[in-house]
Amino acid sequence: MWRFNRISGGFSVVDVQFFFALDFFFLIAYYVGIMKNIKLSSGHEIPILGLGTWKLEGRQCRSVVKEAIALGYTHIDTAWMYKNQREIGRALRDIRIDREQIFLTTKIWNTHLKYDDVLTQFGECLRDLQMDYVDLLLIHWPNDDIPYSDTFSAFKKLYDAGQVRSIGISNFSEAQVEKACEVSDLPICTNQVEYNVRRNRSELRDYCSERGIVMTAHRPLAVGDLANDAVLSEIGENHGKTAAQVALRWLIQQDIITIPKSGSVPHLRENLDVFDWELTQEEMQTLDTKM
Ligand SMILES: NC(=O)c1ccc[n+]([C@@H]2O[C@H](COP(=O)([O-])OP(=O)(O)OC[C@H]3O[C@@H](n4cnc5c(N)ncnc54)[C@H](OP(=O)(O)O)[C@@H]3O)[C@@H](O)[C@H]2O)c1
Repeated sequence: MWRFNRISGGFSVVDVQFFFALDFFFLIAYYVGIMKNIKLSSGHEIPILGLGTWKLEGRQCRSVVKEAIALGYTHIDTAWMYKNQREIGRALRDIRIDREQIFLTTKIWNTHLKYDDVLTQFGECLRDLQMDYVDLLLIHWPNDDIPYSDTFSAFKKLYDAGQVRSIGISNFSEAQVEKACEVSDLPICTNQVEYNVRRNRSELRDYCSERGIVMTAHRPLAVGDLANDAVLSEIGENHGKTAAQVALRWLIQQDIITIPKSGSVPHLRENLDVFDWELTQEEMQTLDTKM
């Protein structure tokens, strides 16, 4: 289902005038108008395309987050491990965006999955982000040495306190997904895994889908390699699009949430331009089978 993700009232030109020109404002209106949301099993919605922030640090991170939001990104993916939550928090505070207009994901590192450790590390996340809550909290990587029930009890406590709206997992195999579903009182909304045309995880996707878990694709561009892929470039030529855009379109056309990272404004803009055109069935099949 295609939905409009409006942020009217979230921005004012006054808020952003110190670094955005007026034409950016019209770009926001354009991209935000066509962004697709996915409904999670928690009942909340997540924008299908977000900004990955791994390796964005310091001043660069702060300015990229502002630029991305100016372009129309409303979903930001971070983690305690990325060491950039303070900068993201500062960027969001600088532009004074309405909190409800941003979807923020963070993750607990896999050394901190015991009950008390989760609460401690999550406290650091909220403090650095300067937030009262996050939209989505994930286990960053599974750790089979710590009972999953410990971690999910802590997640439930944070959920009950209104500090987390949805929960999920990352880098979980089918067996680990099964174990997680057995012990979590809350619905597990997403499994964030490496997923791209060269790493097609359709079996895991189907397995998760049967349990109400949607996929989030990290490394959707294979850390940039796919931008130079000959097959993707050739398909892109049919649509006047780049190889990177074809790689992202292949994911969102299957309702897979994706979070490409970029530190470059032209790439940020390019990655957002994947909504008002479609790959043909034949092209989708080529990408499914020939990569
Ligand atoms: N849960 C996990 O364990 C996990 C693991 C890995 C990643 N992640 C998340 O997923 C996000 C994305 O993954 P990733 O950062 O590893 O890799 P990625 O998004 O697949 O690729 C990022 C690379 O692609 C380049 N790029 C971006 N857009 C481009 C474009 N249009 N044309 C050409 N090159 C482009 C970027 O360079 P420029 O900066 O120069 O644009 C960067 O070098 C991460 O940032 C993180 O938030 C999660």
